[in-house]
Amino acid sequence: MPLSTARITTSDPDRHLAQIVERLKPDAQVTGPGRAKVTLAGGGCSVLAAGDEVLVIAAAADAGGLASVQEEVGRQFLAARDVQAGDVQTGDGERVVWAEAVSGEQVELVSPIVEDYLLAHCTPADEVLRELAATTREVTGRSAGMQVSADEGALLGMLARMVGARRAIEVGVFTGYSSLCIARALPADGKLIACDVSTEWTDIARPFWERAGVADRIELRIGPAVDTLRALPDEPAFDFAFVDADKPGYPAYYEEIVPRLRPGGLLVLDNVFLGGRVLDPAFQGAAQVAMRQVNDAIARDERLDSVMLPVRDGVTLARKR
Ligand SMILES: C[S@@+](CC[C@H](N)C(=O)[O-])C[C@H]1O[C@@H](n2cnc3c(N)ncnc32)[C@H](O)[C@@H]1O
Repeated sequence: MPLSTARITTSDPDRHLAQIVERLKPDAQVTGPGRAKVTLAGGGCSVLAAGDEVLVIAAAADAGGLASVQEEVGRQFLAARDVQAGDVQTGDGERVVWAEAVSGEQVELVSPIVEDYLLAHCTPADEVLRELAATTREVTGRSAGMQVSADEGALLGMLARMVGARRAIEVGVFTGYSSLCIARALPADGKLIACDVSTEWTDIARPFWERAGVADRIELRIGPAVDTLRALPDEPAFDFAFVDADKPGYPAYYEEIVPRLRPGGLLVLDNVFLGGRVLDPAFQGAAQVAMRQVNDAIARDERLDSVMLPVRDGVTLARKR
């Protein structure tokens, strides 16, 4: 499904957005502060007000549909401008300029060469982590791709340390790489409740946790993570949570975790871009639908401050207010 973006510089992005919604009603609706959605016959777009511009992300079933969305939305954007207030559109004259269309799968967050450079310039993984990664590749084959990368592992450890985490939750352990990074960041009496459904994979983790001297900080709970989370006390007792499991489960994990985070606690979610598919409405699988739902919900959740980072496949940090 083709996607295209346009940026329109404007004197008052929120006012401009409100006017677009007014003009395109009932096809447009506000979905949160500084955000709106437009649904037209051939496709639609998300509209975001930020800084001194309005960003539009348009998507349609085919090139013809995209052209008509671009034309209709572009026309209303220009009509809603307040020229007197100094609104201009990036581009030429009386046209909103759209970026060349791409499909969601073609969206590359960070080019591989940049990723390699980033990886080469963070604290390297130590021997235990390197051996855990090698064993995972040997034993699990292609599934090893599920493991967090060394730089993402380092990020998790750094974040857990920065929030002074003592009690942490992890959803999605696999062979225990991210668990190890988080557990190491906890104090000696800290606890990580690590949730997974697989003993086959988590059995690989144990000897490495032992070698790293953190096995007694990790409490592995085998079973569907949503049941494990629901069985936890309701109190906001956790400082840190990392979600990296089945994608259709993300909305439930988010709902269960946020009330259990203390103010200032951090929720980290992995794979929030799903290889670019989250941007592309052509992908309507359970994973993509759930990820869009959770991304939208977090962005408008008044209990949280959040930021989405282009780290690997997309990482959201959401801090409880
Ligand atoms: C992407 S892997 C986790 C990778 C891990 N964070 C790491 O760094 O190696 C996803 C894990 O989620 C687990 N999983 C899938 N569905 C689950 C569920 N309903 N509840 C708990 N864990 C689940 C899988 O068994 C798998 O180990």
